[in-house]
Amino acid sequence: MAARKELRTVSMEEVQKHNAEDDCWLVLCGKVYDLTDFHKAHPGGSKIITSAAGMDASAPFQQVHPADIAERLLSPDVVIGKIDKSTIKPEHVVAAPKNDDDEDENQEPIELDVSQMLNAFDFEQVAKLKMNKEGWAYYSSGSDDEITLRENHNAFQRIWLRPRVLVDVAKIDLSSQILGFDTSIPLYISATALGRLAHPDGEQALCRAAHASGIIQMIPTLSSCSVDEMLDARADGQIVFSQLYVNQNRQRTLEYIQRIEAEGVRALFITVDAPQLGRREKDMRNKFSKQGTSIQKADETEGKVNRDQGVTRAISSFIDPSLKWEDLQWFFENTKLPIILKGVQCAEDAVLALRYGCAGIVLSNHGGRQLDLARSGIEVLPEVMAALRKEPGYSKQHFEVYVDGGIRRGADIFKALALGATAVGIGRPSIYSLAAFGPEGVERMIEIFKDELEMCMRLMGTPSVAHICEEHVITRNLADHFATQPRDNLLLDTYEPIRTAAADKTKSKL
Ligand code: HEM
Ligand SMILES: Cc1cc2nc3c(=O)[nH]c(=O)nc-3n(C[C@H](O)[C@H](O)[C@H](O)COP(=O)(O)O)c2cc1C
Repeated sequence: MAARKELRTVSMEEVQKHNAEDDCWLVLCGKVYDLTDFHKAHPGGSKIITSAAGMDASAPFQQVHPADIAERLLSPDVVIGKIDKSTIKPEHVVAAPKNDDDEDENQEPIELDVSQMLNAFDFEQVAKLKMNKEGWAYYSSGSDDEITLRENHNAFQRIWLRPRVLVDVAKIDLSSQILGFDTSIPLYISATALGRLAHPDGEQALCRAAHASGIIQMIPTLSSCSVDEMLDARADGQIVFSQLYVNQNRQRTLEYIQRIEAEGVRALFITVDAPQLGRREKDMRNKFSKQGTSIQKADETEGKVNRDQGVTRAISSFIDPSLKWEDLQWFFENTKLPIILKGVQCAEDAVLALRYGCAGIVLSNHGGRQLDLARSGIEVLPEVMAALRKEPGYSKQHFEVYVDGGIRRGADIFKALALGATAVGIGRPSIYSLAAFGPEGVERMIEIFKDELEMCMRLMGTPSVAHICEEHVITRNLADHFATQPRDNLLLDTYEPIRTAAADKTKSKL
């Protein structure tokens, strides 16, 4: 491990001199950083950083980020030193933003009890009402026209069920295994960044809820909680997987992998669908309106929403866009953890993952946040399973396939299992239920998935997960994107339409 340089002590007087966009220092959690280059690339927007130039912005920073995020993701050169705390005066400190829903006079108080939640969409609606605009825009947005975002759930509705009768279904067993680890239901919590936008306990709360529900959590690289906080939240023996964005500086990635492996994380899910973060327009528009009110006119046209311009260069500082198949060997040499590729979207890549020695793949389009018009994971699943079965040496025990994206009903889980998946991942249902009711909400949401899957399995004549097979589903229309179907009220009533700039001037929530 590289030796850490001794940090010099910096006074607030010195920090205050670097208070401009082109010379931008900030105090964050006791350290002084030079974010002059990084702010242009910051996926959360440049202005949130430049508006705090020369100040101590620890409070707003800690609402979303762990203290060590700069050290984990950026070059060591950005660290200037440690702040002399005795020099910080109240006027140097940026306050954490209030939940701006307080300002919304039209906002009705929400008097719903968690027991009233009957399905995954119920939580989404409550989360929308309870979260602030920034958090909601960040979680709910998809890329470009959000076609894939909506398609993810719609695709499940093009799969119909083919039940068997007169099977003894007095007892239904939902339990199964993921990578050999027990789970109470073939469902895991997938990695979602910035968990504190949902709840002050962020990923820790998800970890505790996962344990209470007997399921596995995948912790994200871009978490709000620090790695220590997330790992400390585990109960004795609790299984946790880790999601990885590969840094251009492999030493950083290596340190991270070695750390989580030593701490008993059991699998590494490398995200391969995000060499550049998608353009999420709801999120971008929200930042634009918010920042447009408080900054100089000259700033309004450039760099405000940095997902837009120069972002490939920007993001490549912590997500390496040059990552390629040959690089996998480096991971196999440096860790004994099973490696799973998250974000595979066609049969050819599934076969390559098997041939390269991965332990599995997640068929995922990142919850519709990356390539718009990418197919849903569930649509890709049949072509992937057909190709894998032709590969010499393939077996379901040694190479597992998971699906995520749009899973909102127990029957969705059933359909994925029937088509060959070992388990499914959920992203938004976990953070929405957390935002709506805290950890209790997450437990209730998982309980609902269990109730729904149990009912589906009973009515389908499949007493255990092992009984579920391809004969139970009809996929004739799955790849047809023009099949007619009944209106999906819950999806359409909770879906927040993406808006044009002019419409955005109206007073509604987004
Ligand atoms: C110190 C260096 C920083 C790094 C490396 C960093 C990194 C990131 C990353 C990677 C994301 C996006 C996650 C995603 O889209 O998946 C993000 C979003 C965000 N960051 Fe930072 N950040 C830094 C500093 C700050 C500071 C100083 C603040 C506040 C004062 C801040 C506030 C936010 C917010 C509010 C979001 C976004 C939520 C949204 O999109 O609405 N960050 N940051
Ligand atoms: C707010 C949000 C943040 C996410 N952050 C990450 C991330 O940091 N890394 C990653 O690999 N996937 C990330 N994902 C994708 C999820 O892991 C998962 O693939 C997706 O959410 C599944 O779709 P669903 O939300 O419809 O369940 C994120 C998804 C959301 C909604």
